[in-house]
Parts: sequence; C-alpha cells; structure tokens
Amino acid sequence: RMASAQNSLLGFKAIPVSEADTIVVPEGYRAEVILPWGEPIAGDYPDYRLENTGAEQGMQVGMHHDGMHFFPIEGNSPYEGSSDEGFLVMNHEYIEPRYMHTSARGKALGVAEVPMIGENRRDSDEVLKEMNAHGVSIVHIRKQRNGSWAVVRDSRNRRVTGLTPMEISGPVRGTDFVKTRYSPDGTATRGTLNNCAHGVTPWNTYLAAEENWHGYFRNGDVDSQGNPNLPREHSRYGVSTNETRYGWELADNGNDEYIRFDASTKGNNPSQDYRNEPNTFGWVVEIDPFNPNHTPQKRTALGRFRHEGIVFHPAVEGQPIVCYSGDDARFEYIYKYVSAQPYFARTAGGHLLDNGTLYVAKFNEDGTGEWVALVFGQNGLTPQNGFNSQADVLVNTRSAADFVGATKMDRPEWGAVDPQTGDVYFTLTNNTRREADQTDAVNPRENNRWGQIVRWQEVGNNPTAKDFRWEMFVLAGPQDDSETLNGQSLTAENKFCNPDGLWIDADRRIWIQTDMSESVMNTGDFAQFGNNMMLAADPETGAIRRFLTGPVGQEITGVITTPDQRTMFINVQHPGATLDKEDFARGETNSRWPDGSASIYPRSATVVITKEDGGIIGS
Ligand code: FEO
Ligand code: CA
Ligand code: CA
Ligand code: CA
Repeated sequence: RMASAQNSLLGFKAIPVSEADTIVVPEGYRAEVILPWGEPIAGDYPDYRLENTGAEQGMQVGMHHDGMHFFPIEGNSPYEGSSDEGFLVMNHEYIEPRYMHTSARGKALGVAEVPMIGENRRDSDEVLKEMNAHGVSIVHIRKQRNGSWAVVRDSRNRRVTGLTPMEISGPVRGTDFVKTRYSPDGTATRGTLNNCAHGVTPWNTYLAAEENWHGYFRNGDVDSQGNPNLPREHSRYGVSTNETRYGWELADNGNDEYIRFDASTKGNNPSQDYRNEPNTFGWVVEIDPFNPNHTPQKRTALGRFRHEGIVFHPAVEGQPIVCYSGDDARFEYIYKYVSAQPYFARTAGGHLLDNGTLYVAKFNEDGTGEWVALVFGQNGLTPQNGFNSQADVLVNTRSAADFVGATKMDRPEWGAVDPQTGDVYFTLTNNTRREADQTDAVNPRENNRWGQIVRWQEVGNNPTAKDFRWEMFVLAGPQDDSETLNGQSLTAENKFCNPDGLWIDADRRIWIQTDMSESVMNTGDFAQFGNNMMLAADPETGAIRRFLTGPVGQEITGVITTPDQRTMFINVQHPGATLDKEDFARGETNSRWPDGSASIYPRSATVVITKEDGGIIGS
C-alpha cells in the first residue's frame, strides 16, 4: 500500500445529520442547483411546465437523476481538460408519475402509481412522457463569469430515452435470444431503462447500466395447468407474470413501441411478437457523448443482470482493460470483465467491450477470493448442465453464476477503484432477508438493515489476476452496530447506513452516498440518520466525515468533479418521495425542493459544490 496519507485528506468540518428540506454543506462551501427535471436542453427548448407533452419531455432533462460524469469539452480523456466547460452526462433512473401529469392531481397516488383511464388503459402521451423522462441527458454546460453554471445551446446536446434506437453488440448479437418483431435479425432494440449508476471508458465514452429493467415487462404465458411458464431468461430476473411497473403496454393508442412491454407469446414465430424483448434489456449501454449521431450499443459481453454501474481500472498501454459491475438485488453477485485484446490509446474503442472474459466473485472466509470464469464449456457451463452457447451464458448470467457457486452478496451497488493503489471498493447496501445461517465473512450480519463497504486488491496488484485479497472497510449502522477500518464505531460526525453511490477522487478521498429507502427513512431506528447524505473517507486511516445532507425524501447519488477538483457535481434524486398518498391527494407536500414554490412539485436536480476560497473539494 501507499505511504500513509496526511490527515489533511479530509480538511472540512463534519456536519450533523439533518431532516431539513435543503442541501447542507460544511462551513466554507457553497451549493447551487442546476439542471432540475424538465430543464430544456435540446430541440425547441420548451420551458418546464407540468403540462409539458411527451414530445417536450424528450427535449428536457429527464427525471430521477443518478450516475453522472463531466466530460471536459473537446477533450480526449475523461479526467483531463477544461474545468470550466464540458458535457455533463447523467442517468435518469426512474420516474414518479404523480409529479408528472396534470391528470394525477387530486388522486390518491403513492410512489410509482400511475393515473389510469378507466380500468386498464393509459393515456398514450403520458406513457410517451414517462419513457422520455427515462434514459440519459447529454448537456453542454459552461461556467459563467459570476461562477454559476449554465446550459450552452449546442446541437450536440441530446436525450437518449426509453425509445432511442440501439444496436446489440457482442456475442449475443444476432442470436435467437434477441430476435423480435422490431429486429427479426436480433441486432437492434429500442431504448435504455432504469439507468442507475454509470461508467466511463478509458476512450472517453459513457456507459449507462440497466438496473431494475425487469419491472417494466410482463409475461403472461402459462403451462397446460395454467401456472406461469416463463423462460429462465425472464423468471430468474423477476419479470412479472401480471402487472408491470407503469403499465406502458396499456397505452391507449396500442402502438408497437408500447405493447412490446407485454412479452407474452402471441403465436408460433418469435419474430412476430415481443417474447424476446426483455432479453434486450439488462445490459450496459455505451454512448459517445461527443457524437449526437452515434447509435448507442448494448455491450453483451459484460453480462446481463441488474447492472448497478460499471467501474474501470485505469487503462495501461498494452494491457487488457478490466472493469467491475455489481448486480443490485439480494443474494446476487459481483462480476469482473477482462478484455481479450490489449488496450492501446491510439486504437482503443468499444470493440474492447465485445470480446473478453466475464468472471464472478467468490469471497472466501479467510480474506482470499477468486474470480470464476463464466465461459461456455468451462466450469461446468456445458449443454449437459443447460448452457448451450456463450450467448446462453451471457443472457442467463445469473443462472451461470448460480451454477458455479459464486458468493451471494448483500445487494452490490457502486464500485470504485483507487487510482493510486488499484484497491477496489464496493458498497453492499443492505439485505434484510439474510438469515443467521446464511451469513459469511463478507456478508456478516443477519437481517442486514445497514449495509457495508468491502475492498480488495488483485493478487500482485495485477488487475487481470484470478485471485484477490479482501477486507471490510466499514460496517455501516448505528453507534452500537458499526465498525470502521480502525476498529471504531461510527459517531455523530459520521454515522450513516445503506451506502450506495461511491467514487474515489484523484487525491484518494472516498465519497460515499447513502440511499435509505423512502419506506424507512426518518422513521424508527433509521430516524437517527436524518435524510440521505454524502460522506468522505480516508482510505489509509479509515476516518469518515459527513460532508453533505440532502432535502426531504430524496437520495444522494452521482458524484464527479471537474479535472481541477474545484467544482463538484452531485445529484439529488426523488425529493418528496416520502409523501403519503392521501397527503398528495389533498395537494400537500413534504418537500418543495429545489424551487421553493407552492405551485411546483419537488424535482430531482444536480447540485454544484464549490469552496469559497476556490480550493479542492474536501481538502
Ligand atoms: Fe438504483 Fe441499486 O440503486
Ligand atoms: Ca444506486
Ligand atoms: Ca434508490
Ligand atoms: Ca440504492
């Protein structure tokens, strides 16, 4: 490990927990809101109004901001170049329909509930608006003379949505698994959904991970006894046998792009229906933020699961590229991908994500661990055991990982790589279903309400190694049920739970973001943590300090700085999500963030953080 860092790595004074409907940052710091949901960024630049149409939403910032990167303008590297101007690229994970539609007013709608027309129909423009509120925003922003950031009207600004045409690349392209009425040859699909965290490739492109995509689909197929009869590529991922999350397949115009969310078998020919549509989701999607004509690519070699995000080791000339991705569900896995071809800066590109080896992690009790290859024909992934091709292994990544006996984790969320030591960190957010006889060294608590952060180093500090050594970085939770690297409990200045967002800056500060769910936050044992927050940690001493607290009902997610580390961007997702459905019907609200107006619903937004002395954030 590197020589011990100075205490100055965390140079700010910790702030207390907060239940206030505002952003709080340490003394000497400023926070400014930009790019709320509905901010016009492209096309006709329509102003935000609750009455915005579906088409207008497609020219505005989407809802529920999540993973994000700042790409310096005209740069060749994702981490070098201008600190005053660039493309801010962010995911929009999901939506809160009751805050999107005039038709929702006065109705008792809770989180995720949608306004219906009659029994089982939905207004098709509301469906379009919801699909256009998903996906990715790519927006040119620039620092003004007064220090504030503003949108630049650039023809490269772009929305990628739940409808954008995409190509399927890698080993699954053209196979029977992905042939649909839209793409009878299995090479294309439309849209990306539930993009949680992101990734940034060494060749300066953006990756959007598809997390809880399964909930947008249904498959009503039954066997001769009338029992649900789904292929494992649907059932193992939780595709619904009855209702979908938002009922898009019920759009009243019956258009093809909406009915595709019903993946039930309609006849004999898979190319005449959408039985395979769910197989075109669950991937990592590559987008070139600098080229508005680039067709996003679903990179199937990275596996299919509920990808939280994806994080790379720094690329080394002449060596393979190596990245990690977690599957955020209870008892799911952490994966690693190693490209078959070496990286050369001059020729690097998406082809490095199309041909490589996917591995899944086994964490042993003694602090060692190993990577097990998910390769057709190896480790029992053979026809005798139900795996018929590499495409089969990749479409059914979870089933392959089950078969090889990988370690079932407490909901893997974001990963981060220490740019100086190569240590890899992963947040494990919680797992309240883990029972006493299911605990192990890396998932040590039954009924794990609080979550933990694990870190490892590949053997020989070689990213392509097949073995690693791991240790617990922090067990999060209340004072009497937490432990940091130095054996201490968390205290008033740093107690937190449910770690989710994670990023390590160039100086090695570890930024930790929390996502207590709206069903528990500010209640019972969770009340002591206040609203969701961001903290910073020192990787050497294990010290942790609370840096930011957010408004009511939200989670903090997404964090990046400009290359000079003097401007930080973070996202506030789903403010006001804790509002009760009867209070919503009465027109009440518990959050007015960020507009502070009684006539505007709470909106997800980006927050720009600077230091009043112009210094490095966190120093
Ligand atoms: Fe979308 Fe796993 O957080
Ligand atoms: Ca997350
Ligand atoms: Ca969340
Ligand atoms: Ca989460």
